[in-house]
Amino acid sequence: MQKLALPFNSPMQQKDFLYGVATASFQIEGSADSRLPCIWDTFCATPNKIADASDGLIACDHVNRWQEDLDIIESLGVDAYRFSISWPRVIKEDGSLNQEGANFYIQLLDQLKSKNIKSYVTLYHWDLPQHLEDNGGWLNRETAYKYAEYVDLITKALGNRVHSYATFNEPYCSAFLGYEIGVHAPGKVGRKHGRTAAHHILLAHGLGMQVLQKNSPDTINGIVLNFTPCYPVSQSKADLAATQLANQYINLWYLQPLMEKSYPAIIDLLDENDKPDIHPGDLDIIGHKIDFLGVNFYTRLTYSAPTETGSFYTEHEHLYPRTDIGWEIFPQALTDYLVELDARFSLPPIYITENGAAMADKLENGQVHDTDRVNYYDQHLNALHKAIDQGVNIKGYFAWSLIDNFEWAEGYLKRFGLVHVDYKTQKRTLKDSAKAYQTLLASRIEQL
Ligand code: NOJ
Repeated sequence: MQKLALPFNSPMQQKDFLYGVATASFQIEGSADSRLPCIWDTFCATPNKIADASDGLIACDHVNRWQEDLDIIESLGVDAYRFSISWPRVIKEDGSLNQEGANFYIQLLDQLKSKNIKSYVTLYHWDLPQHLEDNGGWLNRETAYKYAEYVDLITKALGNRVHSYATFNEPYCSAFLGYEIGVHAPGKVGRKHGRTAAHHILLAHGLGMQVLQKNSPDTINGIVLNFTPCYPVSQSKADLAATQLANQYINLWYLQPLMEKSYPAIIDLLDENDKPDIHPGDLDIIGHKIDFLGVNFYTRLTYSAPTETGSFYTEHEHLYPRTDIGWEIFPQALTDYLVELDARFSLPPIYITENGAAMADKLENGQVHDTDRVNYYDQHLNALHKAIDQGVNIKGYFAWSLIDNFEWAEGYLKRFGLVHVDYKTQKRTLKDSAKAYQTLLASRIEQL
């Protein structure tokens, strides 16, 4: 069987490099009736938003099958499991704690501890309670304070069971996809909306960090950002300038405020009406020190000069080779972008909190020979090794995802799992990629 092979002397071959698998609440949990409704329930119920018209009502039925799923995680030999807390499962509409909902995560965390698996808990992976959206959602500054209250209650409830907290997963997706171009929940459109949501989410992150520092000073606390490195289609001045603007708009917009308490220069090019409302002191809150930066990486994009008035760049279709979701496979961008960010900012330790691929898997005779996914992992692990080799401080790597799950606007059509899920029977089957990951992890050596 095909293997994942790293250079023999790589730090990633040693036991102190952390390996994990990742999931998110809405994508796997199901049992939507035992929690408050969230924006993704509403979005799924809106015609033509989800490719297969599906929803998260059952998903992977993880709320009922979590013990089986934890056994699978343990069998892979990982050091850590990254998952998210569903805000609408643990908070009641009046803002108080839903103890029953919290208990679900408490048992999960206790069992992870008993298996000696570190828990990397994401506090927000896109499932905003619907009643908060009805009040304006992330367009309403008040939501940032509601988030801080939620973080206060849930961290107190979980006590000392957690190893690491991430305040948010991919603010870009919530803000840009959800409030600027409307392809994710809640489906709002407009530059002003997108930039406002981004600012309020970053503010919520800073307020959340303040709560974590008070309630959970011993956990490793940070945030997870997604990065899509931007490449010019040519070396012309105009294409290079447009590519830099794209990088500022889609990537640095979320990192620079955290690291340098400022937005990238492109903010000055925005129409006055499109700028977010930034209150004095906001950037100080947003720039709260973080213990780690989570980096989610899947692909790159290419850009050229704008052709329409009012836009800053032209984004091109993904080049080939592509995964089943249509994203270009370009592992070198992982190396190069990490090195570039490391040179540009004083970064805290980095964890790759997501990396993986949707592939057109076939379950045959109880097996999934996902050679293409194994290749993807092999190339990206080696690209990561190269970044470490060039001096970037990377502490760990999480594969996305543990199991096939609800892939947002793509519904259940795109499979990212190391483990196959038959949605009719909920049967889980380890793919070849899971076995290759298992073998890599088992072959690690103690640090000398
Ligand atoms: C980013 C998101 O965090 C995750 O929820 C999603 O499934 C993967 N990328 C793949 O698109």
